[in-house]
Amino acid sequence: MQDLPLFPEQASTFAEKSDLLYWFLVAVSGFFIAVIFFLVVIFAVRYRRKSEEHWPTVYQENPHLEMLWTVGPLILALFIFVWGAKLYVDYARAPQDSMEVFVTGRQWMWKIQHSAGQREINYLHVPKGVPVKLTMTSEDVIHSFFIPAFRVKADVVPGRYTSLWFEATEAGTYRLYCAEYCGTEHSRMIGYVVVMEPADFQDWLQGGRSESMEAAGQRLFGKLACNTCHLPQSGERGPSLVGLHGKEVELRDGRRVRVDDGYLRESILAPADKVTAGYQPIMPAYQGQISEHELLQLIAYIKSQRSEG
Ligand code: CUA
Repeated sequence: MQDLPLFPEQASTFAEKSDLLYWFLVAVSGFFIAVIFFLVVIFAVRYRRKSEEHWPTVYQENPHLEMLWTVGPLILALFIFVWGAKLYVDYARAPQDSMEVFVTGRQWMWKIQHSAGQREINYLHVPKGVPVKLTMTSEDVIHSFFIPAFRVKADVVPGRYTSLWFEATEAGTYRLYCAEYCGTEHSRMIGYVVVMEPADFQDWLQGGRSESMEAAGQRLFGKLACNTCHLPQSGERGPSLVGLHGKEVELRDGRRVRVDDGYLRESILAPADKVTAGYQPIMPAYQGQISEHELLQLIAYIKSQRSEG
């Protein structure tokens, strides 16, 4: 297969599972194509009109045959559905202990930032054997983050966060693509994923001395004066943000929301939309005031404020 690369390498825990389902679908399709063409030929020969006077008997129905070709495909289709759904659920839910990396797409490059602070462009360094969760957004149009060797792909959409996760199984360098037509240089919006042994990855992380995302977020929190209203204890003007991430909160209008990255993002950009119960909509909107990048840093900082015990 090496000389004829019809298929990308298998370099993540998803790769083998997804290929197995794919080849199963190919095999099922191949089987039915063979059966149908075989029968077409056999029937054409066997039931051809043999003379001018010949009129075949017409069968109106055959319940057994109808049962067979209804129930058979139904069971087969359900089997494929359950299999695919199981893979999808695995793929949609990143493990709790995933290493988080932030990706911002823009025309026409991928900007990547690690929680530790490392930033890179069109390169993504990850350790082998560790689940990695990408939280992604776009500064302009819809892009799509695609790593064929890992069999993972997800749209990267302006104005919201999408995510995907993978666990690389082989050290090496793999291609990374934008898989959504996003303008003139879409085809050049490509890069590399570098999978390293965990020890090498630690060395790499320590390589560039940079401020962690949490620290940058904390600095920004002070600079934007968020800390005048959001004190460690909930005050009159704003709720405390300590231990907030992952919790469910009640809003002024009685709705309940779970605090995730998306909610935090919304509440920073357009705070009036979903105000916490017990508070007035006095927070200024930061739409257009801060970059996607700064937004991610703020969220990283808010997430880092865990409540004690
Ligand atoms: Cu970005 Cu295509």
